[in-house]
Formats: sequence, structure tokens, C-alpha cells
Amino acid sequence: MSTQTTTPGTSTELRLEKFQVTAEEDASPGGRFANWFYAVGVGFFEPRADAEDYPAYVKAFSADGRVLVGVHDDAPGALSVDGAVPVATYASMRNTLNAGGPEPLQAHLITSVTVRPSHRRRGLLRRMMTEDLQDAAAAGVPVAVLTASEATIYGRFGFGCATFTSSVTVDVRERFAVLGTPTGRTELAEPAEVPALSGEVFARFHARTRGSVGRQYSYARRVSGQWGRERPVEDKAVRTAVHYDDAGNAVGYVAYRFEGWSREPYTVSIIDLVAGTEESYLALWRYLGALDLIQEITWDEAAVDDPLPWALADRRCYRVTGVEDVLWVRLLDVAGALEGRGYRSSGRLVFEVADALGLAGGTYQLTVTGGRGRVERVASDSEVDVAMDIAALGSLYLGGVSPGALVGAGLVEQRTEGAIELLNDLFRDAENPYCITHF
Ligand SMILES: CC(C)(COP(=O)(O)OP(=O)(O)OC[C@H]1O[C@@H](n2cnc3c(N)ncnc32)[C@H](O)[C@@H]1OP(=O)(O)O)[C@@H](O)C(=O)NCCC(=O)NCCS
Repeated sequence: MSTQTTTPGTSTELRLEKFQVTAEEDASPGGRFANWFYAVGVGFFEPRADAEDYPAYVKAFSADGRVLVGVHDDAPGALSVDGAVPVATYASMRNTLNAGGPEPLQAHLITSVTVRPSHRRRGLLRRMMTEDLQDAAAAGVPVAVLTASEATIYGRFGFGCATFTSSVTVDVRERFAVLGTPTGRTELAEPAEVPALSGEVFARFHARTRGSVGRQYSYARRVSGQWGRERPVEDKAVRTAVHYDDAGNAVGYVAYRFEGWSREPYTVSIIDLVAGTEESYLALWRYLGALDLIQEITWDEAAVDDPLPWALADRRCYRVTGVEDVLWVRLLDVAGALEGRGYRSSGRLVFEVADALGLAGGTYQLTVTGGRGRVERVASDSEVDVAMDIAALGSLYLGGVSPGALVGAGLVEQRTEGAIELLNDLFRDAENPYCITHF
């Protein structure tokens, strides 16, 4: 698939090219994929990719079903980068989102958003984003998701930040001990076995974790060390340990790397830790705590309501060093999205939703019984219980943001008494949503 459109309206004509990466895509330097990839690297301050790495990236992008957009300036300055290299990039792919319903929802994942400094603030992001969201909505996908480099960019397009993770440092010296009775066993895995088993373990985690997004091709390679941090070539420093339950099933794994003898305290950083059960999560920490010579473990993807400090003999071994937003959610189809999520209580609420992009605004009645929601559009002069922008509904959607906080911030308006309590009871869960997929 490849389409091109030209839109005037700027000082030069900018041509938008859209193509899907298939296994047959030209992976040679100077080809359209290599040019597009180069442009993404410019946006994120990455070094230029090595020519021999392109085939691996093409394979990965093709497996992910990525659709790439590049905007070309066909009249570059005399000494500028070749016009074949896009001045703006954008990509999307589909995967699943666990919204707490009986089935995962189909989600539209947006990534690789860059605009070259010479072409910024001329509406290129707005154009790429608006067209893409319209297409995804027309295709019937209920939600779009992304992770954001800056928190100021995406609210205007209807995205609300919805999940968070903590960066933690865990002191694993003498004081460290995980309480409770260990189950199963944890062993170092043979690297060649890791890609397949990491996929199985993640599937289990994904099925039980609200807020989780299905993973792209590169994950299994990175956790096995087949791909390194910077390049899709082997990183021999990566180790992966697998936890097996008492029945011998692989239910969790941790991929990690030692940070070297020149860094003190001696530190292991976690690349990826995925547990399919609560027992497995603690078992992996017992393993990490038993790594001889290591004094600290660092991890950037802990749950904000991580059970680990509660399971430690000394909770002060556990230090939160930062909290980051992860998933930003944009509802494209309010009825499809709200009917696809799970609920903890029952009730009826009428929402008024404003959407500046005109994709999903309206007045909706949500009726929840037996944990399932039914949504119908109602007349705009109906009595409304709560009113908000689509971005605020995106933040509330996975249950990780308090409706009361959004009322306090002026982002949600309560129109009938008790509506916020009901919204809270319906949407919130015992645990916060948790996404450990970056894309
Ligand atoms: C962020 C980026 C893609 C914006 O592209 P752009 O083409 O300049 O954006 P647009 O001209 O379409 O701007 C659309 C709107 O967003 C605003 N905006 C864009 N980038 C913004 C930013 N970083 N902070 C605050 N507002 C921003 C614009 O002011 C404009 O607002 P308006 O429509 O209300 O007037 C570009 O600056 C960039 O490539 N940054 C570096 C890479 C990056 O951070 N990418 C995002 C990855 S998640």
C-alpha cells in the first residue's frame, strides 16, 4: 500500500506519503524505508542507523503491520538533506488493549511522531494526526493510544494520560528479604528459548492486567539479548531468568543487565520484568535479591501500587525515584470503548462529551449491570450528570485517575449530585491500570 497527497498552504508544497511496511519492502540505504527511519532518528536525536541493520527493522515493522507516514519537502534548500528524507514522520499499528472487559479491545497505536525543526509549528503534526485518527475511527477502532515525549502535545488531540509507572531502586544487601513462602523455582534461561517463552508469559500478564497493551515484535528480541539497546544485534550482557510454578509452567521472567564494576553500589538494571501471577512476581524478586555481589536493583516500570514494599521484611529497601505517565488514551468511539471495558458496580450516568476534532463528541447514557456497560446516544437536551472533554474521559477510561481529582482541576463538571461518586464506583478498580509496553 502506498498513497501520496499534496497539500498547499505552506511556503513550499509538502507531499505526504503513506506506506505499509511488508517483508518485501526495500531495506537498502537510500530506499524509502531507510530515509523514513533516518528522519525518525533526527527527531529523537538518535545516531544514523547502520546500513546492515535495516533488514532487521523492516522485518520487525512488517511483523507489527506498521503504517508509516512521511511528509516530503520537494523544494529543499541547496545544501539541505535530500528531499527523499521526510521532514515529518508518523506511524501507527494495531494491537490489543486490556480495558478490563471480557475480551481485549482493538487499539490504534501511534508512534514515531517527529517534525524537523525547520518545519515545526506549521501544522504538520496536526495534519498527520487528524487524518490518521479520522481513518482509525472510520475503521471502527474504539481507542487510540500513545506514549508521549512531552505532556503538552497531545491533550489538544483528545488524548488523556491514563497509566503511570514508578522508577524504583531496591537495596538488595543484607536487609533485603521477601516474606512469605517461595513457590516453584527460578532459573537462568537459555537465550535461544527466551523469545518464545517471553511471548507466552506476556500473554498471561496481558490477559490479567488492565491497562496492558500487546507488544510489538522487538520485545521478545530485546529481552533475550538478540537485540541490544541501540542496535538489532546481539547484546551479550543480557541475562534472563524464568520463574516456573510448582507444576513446572513458565509464569514469569526477568531480563536484566549488570551495569559494570565501575558503578557503585554494584547495580543490576531490569530490562523487562513480566509476571503472570502474584507469586511469580515475588519469586522473581527473591531471585534478584539473591544475586551475589549486587547491591542495588533499578527498574523503571514498577506498578504505582507495587506489592513489593509490602512483601519486604524492611520496606525501606524500596525507594521510588520518580513517577512517569505511560499510556495516553483517546476514545474514538465512546460507545464501543465504554461497552468494551469492565465495571465494578452498577448504575446509570449521562455524559456530555466535547470533542474538538468532531470524532466522538455527544451526549451518552451509560447503563451498567452485572459488570457490563450499555451505551446509547441521547438527546443533547437530556439531563446530564457529568460533562467533560474527550481527553478527560480518556484519562478516566482505564480507572487509574480519580474523577474527584479531575473535578478539582476543572476538567470534569458534576451537574447532578452524587454523579462523581458513582463515576468513581463504576470506573475505579482495586488496582491501578498498569502498562509495561512502550511503542
Ligand atoms: C512535537 C512535534 C511533533 C510537533 O510538531 P509540529 O508540526 O510542530 O506541530 P503542529 O504545528 O502541528 O502543532 C499542533 C499544535 O500543537 C502545539 N504543539 C506542538 N508541539 C508542541 C510542544 N512540544 N509543546 C506544546 N505545544 C506543542 C502547537 O503549538 C499547535 O497548537 P495549536 O494547534 O493549538 O496552534 C515536533 O515539535 C517534534 O518533532 N518534536 C520532537 C520529537 C517529539 O517530541 N515527538 C513526539 C513524540 S511522542
